[in-house]
Amino acid sequence: MYHQPVLLDETIEYLVTGKGTYIDGTLGGGGHSEKILETLEKKNWLEGSLVIGIDRDSDAIEAASQRLKKYKNFRAVRAKFSELTEHAKEKEVTGILLDLGISSHQIDEGARGFSFQKSATLDMRMNQSQALSAYQVVNDYSEADLAMVLWKYGEEKKSRLIAKRIAERRTTKPIETTEELASIVKTCVPHHEQVKALARVFQAIRIEVNDELGELKKALEHSVKLLQAGGRIAVISYHSLEDRIVKDFFREQSEDDWGFDRGLKGVPLKVPLRSRTIKLLTKKPIQPSEKEIEENSRARSAKLRVAEKL
Ligand SMILES: C[S@@+](CC[C@H](N)C(=O)[O-])C[C@H]1O[C@@H](n2cnc3c(N)ncnc32)[C@H](O)[C@@H]1O
Repeated sequence: MYHQPVLLDETIEYLVTGKGTYIDGTLGGGGHSEKILETLEKKNWLEGSLVIGIDRDSDAIEAASQRLKKYKNFRAVRAKFSELTEHAKEKEVTGILLDLGISSHQIDEGARGFSFQKSATLDMRMNQSQALSAYQVVNDYSEADLAMVLWKYGEEKKSRLIAKRIAERRTTKPIETTEELASIVKTCVPHHEQVKALARVFQAIRIEVNDELGELKKALEHSVKLLQAGGRIAVISYHSLEDRIVKDFFREQSEDDWGFDRGLKGVPLKVPLRSRTIKLLTKKPIQPSEKEIEENSRARSAKLRVAEKL
């Protein structure tokens, strides 16, 4: 299977509220898009609705297009989800989904270089035609920049030591494979911490290569503008860096922003600077049931947050 969708029923229940245009910004294998289409069909809302599936990975576009080819109301677009506004021009959007991170297909397809358990050249690009790859991050970034990436995106305590050892090693020959990178990381941490350190280092480099957090911030801003009143945005995140961005953005947008103006005779006056744009529908994030985690271990860190445009 290309990818087992996470929090599927919970997401669809919040997201699909009526006839309209839906954007699945992270199409992957098309699991969520398929369920959106099936639900629209079941409720008799399919006629006049449109589901736009966006992904920057050509494998995803191909797999999902094949899977969903029977639906006339589905369109797959190869693009970054930060560009979603361009692909829904002049549309009133009813629902937007972002199911962040990478798909099982991307991890399992060893050659893509996302996994430290699989031997491959250093790549990690979601978009196979992008210029920046893990190879450049590991071989061309300065030691200080590399340490910063590992610290900021992996929260790796040994970031400086790992960056130093990488910089030392590459003076003799470039670091070309996932195994070479993993072997350097392993020299920096005790045996029992190696797997976690490898996960953090690979996550950090992947986030840098794909500008994942920058993409998320832009997509959230655009989504809120694009949604019609009553339209919903659902975001599934898989680690604390992503979840913090979603949580803070939703909180900020769901509160009025007040400031002070110099009123008459210089007496400060409380004035509204910006009115809230969304209502939070999930006070606490929704997490997968024990059963879902048992059946799909990749769901274990998932958190779903949903908001509605005012
Ligand atoms: C977790 S998977 C989505 C799985 C999908 N919901 C399903 O049910 O099959 C995430 C997908 O989003 C894509 N992706 C991640 N960040 C992206 C971005 N900024 N722009 C476009 N696609 C992105 C990845 O290439 C990957 O295919």
